[in-house]
Amino acid sequence: MIIFSKSNTIISILFVLIYFQNIIVRLQSVGSKGKFDFGPNQLASNIWYKPKGQLINGHYENSYSNFSLWSNLLLHLQNNNGSISIQASEIGYMKNEALMNFRKNNISVIVVLPAFTQCYDGTILGLLELYGESPKENLFCKIFDICNSTDRQDPNGKGWFVTRDDFAYTPDFLNFDERMPNLIPYLDYNKLMNISSNPPQWLYPNLSWVDRKTLARVDNCPQAGTNRISNLMHDYIKYLSIMNKKFNSTKIPGIQINWNVIEGWEWRDEHCLDLLYDKFNDSKQFDYAYRYITNPCHQDTPHLKDLVELLCSVNNCPEVVYMDMDLTYFTSYSLEVLHMNKQILNSLNISFGINLVDQCVEIDNCVAEILSTDHSQVVLNLDAESKYPNLTRNQMQELSLINVLNFLINQNILDKDTHIAITSWTTWPIEIGQQTNELRSGGMAHTANEIFERILIPHSFAK
Ligand SMILES: *[C@@H]1O[C@H](CO)[C@@H](O)[C@H](O)[C@H]1NC(C)=O
Ligand SMILES: *[C@@H]1O[C@H](CO)[C@@H](O)[C@H](O)[C@H]1NC(C)=O
Ligand SMILES: *[C@@H]1O[C@H](CO)[C@@H](O)[C@H](O)[C@H]1NC(C)=O
Ligand SMILES: *[C@@H]1O[C@H](CO)[C@@H](O)[C@H](O)[C@H]1NC(C)=O
Ligand SMILES: *[C@@H]1O[C@H](CO)[C@@H](O)[C@H](O)[C@H]1NC(C)=O
Ligand SMILES: *[C@@H]1O[C@H](CO)[C@@H](O)[C@H](O)[C@H]1NC(C)=O
Ligand SMILES: *[C@@H]1O[C@H](CO)[C@@H](O)[C@H](O)[C@H]1NC(C)=O
Ligand SMILES: *[C@@H]1O[C@H](CO)[C@@H](O)[C@H](O)[C@H]1NC(C)=O
Ligand SMILES: *[C@@H]1O[C@H](CO)[C@@H](O)[C@H](O)[C@H]1NC(C)=O
Ligand SMILES: *[C@@H]1O[C@H](CO)[C@@H](O)[C@H](O)[C@H]1NC(C)=O
Repeated sequence: MIIFSKSNTIISILFVLIYFQNIIVRLQSVGSKGKFDFGPNQLASNIWYKPKGQLINGHYENSYSNFSLWSNLLLHLQNNNGSISIQASEIGYMKNEALMNFRKNNISVIVVLPAFTQCYDGTILGLLELYGESPKENLFCKIFDICNSTDRQDPNGKGWFVTRDDFAYTPDFLNFDERMPNLIPYLDYNKLMNISSNPPQWLYPNLSWVDRKTLARVDNCPQAGTNRISNLMHDYIKYLSIMNKKFNSTKIPGIQINWNVIEGWEWRDEHCLDLLYDKFNDSKQFDYAYRYITNPCHQDTPHLKDLVELLCSVNNCPEVVYMDMDLTYFTSYSLEVLHMNKQILNSLNISFGINLVDQCVEIDNCVAEILSTDHSQVVLNLDAESKYPNLTRNQMQELSLINVLNFLINQNILDKDTHIAITSWTTWPIEIGQQTNELRSGGMAHTANEIFERILIPHSFAK
């Protein structure tokens, strides 16, 4: 998810960077327990996040805190030791009893942390989210717009893990947002190629490659130092040492991480671009190779391995790594990466997971469909109303998720061991309070039931 904070930095849970025709479109593309997680988009506590100019839905109170609204889904989750994910910012709106109810019903709770996309040191982020400490000014106010708290627990001075009625809360799992590649320096492609008009008049300025790179380099997080990837990985370690201390007296939560599967990894790999330039010194050829990722370096998979090994070295192996994928820019590239990541995680004995989210993100009138050519492609049907005149936008999302899930099964990405988070970080489905009733087609709980009953159970992936 991409969340623009007040300071105009990007807070992303799903960071998908799409580059095409000189236009950068940022798309959002969210232990021994079970494999299935349900993450409804009651995101009103994320007051800094208003993708369509308004908050997304409401709170858990009167919606997902009321189990009689989703009793069938509850059974599916219970039968599979499933979990529910709740935004960290929502805890301050919830009463302790509501949170304990999940545990009583054998549903584990995953708390989704929002801060890891931010350009602050891991110790600062840990002290902020877990203890509410800020170095100087209130970072909850600066980053998350939570300045003057009224109808919620104020996280300033306490951290996210205190309920509205003042109980300390220990979740079963913590889910970390991506940190890479969005905090890595990169080369602004328009500057690199001196593209000032669309379509481009000419490419490649009359400068050396090194000078062009200097002109084009952008670094949104210089304070993270030169050994960037390693430093960003060590921020997890700093954070976890604070987490392990904080929850020592109760039960230390398991951790989960999210990992980007996006072309942006290639575009932010400067060494890989050097190699591309050596190979394609003609501007048109370079441009083609760049846009169409003809020579990927795939350094993201070794980075994933390094990160997981680092986390395991301090006894905080992730319980699962969820893939945040863009499938539409180059489906074949994404499938290649998914296969590689799955294999590397398998070799490390770490569960591979899929964040099943709508590839249409915030686009109206859209369904993600599969084009069966020689290489199957995930495409966005941007005139879904013509093809499906009777579907609401909520129902379009349901259809998109089912299409993509079936596709991933057919491509052998998803199998009986794959963890699946059925979730949304976007405006859809729109559902507040009683509208979350699982009988309402297109709703999040309805969608999850369809996925269990039409796909996961028939495939014997779920009980
Ligand atoms: C929970 O939802 C059910 C079904 O709509 C409703 O009858 C009941 O009043 C709700 N309970 C609470 C506490 O809101
Ligand atoms: C759920 O947990 C129980 C007890 O821990 C275990 O017996 C059962 O096999 C688990 N079910 C699944 C589907 O993992
Ligand atoms: C939760 O799991 C325990 C142990 O498996 C079981 O005894 C209990 O009945 C379950 N509770 C519910 C509400 O399913
Ligand atoms: C909000 O809090 C700040 C300090 O954190 C205070 O200066 C300001 O007066 C408060 N504003 C309102 C409307 O309460
Ligand atoms: C970029 O192109 C423009 C013409 O479109 C030219 O005036 C300018 O000098 C070029 N810049 C560089 C650094 O080559
Ligand atoms: C590029 O620069 C070189 C020398 O710096 C010059 O000889 C050449 O004419 C220039 N080419 C263009 C297209 O401006
Ligand atoms: C918890 O704290 C105690 C006492 O400080 C320490 O001995 C123990 O190793 C800690 N456990 C963990 C898991 O950090
Ligand atoms: C481009 O590459 C070709 C073949 O690799 C080489 O002969 C040529 O000198 C290169 N041109 C420049 C400007 O580097
Ligand atoms: C892999 O992980 C599972 C459960 O997390 C554990 O039971 C098993 O022993 C591990 N296998 C290896 C080879 O580490
Ligand atoms: C849409 O609904 C109308 C009225 O219920 C029905 O007649 C029509 O066949 C439906 N169209 C499609 C494509 O399902």
